[in-house]
Amino acid sequence: MSARTTRLLLLLAAFLAGLGTLFAIVLLVVRPETAAMVPSAAAIGGPFRLVDQNGQAVTDRDFKGEPYVVFFGFTHCPDVCPTTLMELSDVLDKLGPDAARIGALFITVDPERDTPAELKDYLSSFNPRFKGLTGDLAAIAQVAKSYRVYMKKVPLDNGDYTMDHTALVYLMDKNGKFVAPFNLKRRPEDAAADLRRYL
Ligand code: NI
Repeated sequence: MSARTTRLLLLLAAFLAGLGTLFAIVLLVVRPETAAMVPSAAAIGGPFRLVDQNGQAVTDRDFKGEPYVVFFGFTHCPDVCPTTLMELSDVLDKLGPDAARIGALFITVDPERDTPAELKDYLSSFNPRFKGLTGDLAAIAQVAKSYRVYMKKVPLDNGDYTMDHTALVYLMDKNGKFVAPFNLKRRPEDAAADLRRYL
């Protein structure tokens, strides 16, 4: 191989490495909370055993026979979580008495800070139907995995941390089977009418 060919190959390799780095950066910048990652419908959800904001044990079987929505988030979330919980609250409000037949789960991705007491305090700002669920790290990791939820601790400059996480709302039917991501980008009465179809 001539010196010239070697030099060209080295240049090409450097160029490709640069491209690879650029691609990796693009992937990192597109965070799941901004890009709604829609998982494939197969096998989303599964058994769990967690604790609610009143310290009561809650399992997936408690929702047999009623449709329910599941949202993963954390109480220190600056915007996406409170916005989603507010929008879901509006939908539950529009359901009137039917809301009592629909489950609404807020599962923390930050169990280290989100104790039952913390969840209780936080959820007092939203529709009372919400069950805020927490558990030990292993139980939370398992339920997040079963819902294909991405979650990652991200350190902040001030020594604190935030959580990156998937911000989809999962609609589950009466049999605990995943139906589709629940669309909140519509009038709450329309979203409520959609939910009623699964009663
Ligand atoms: Ni959030």
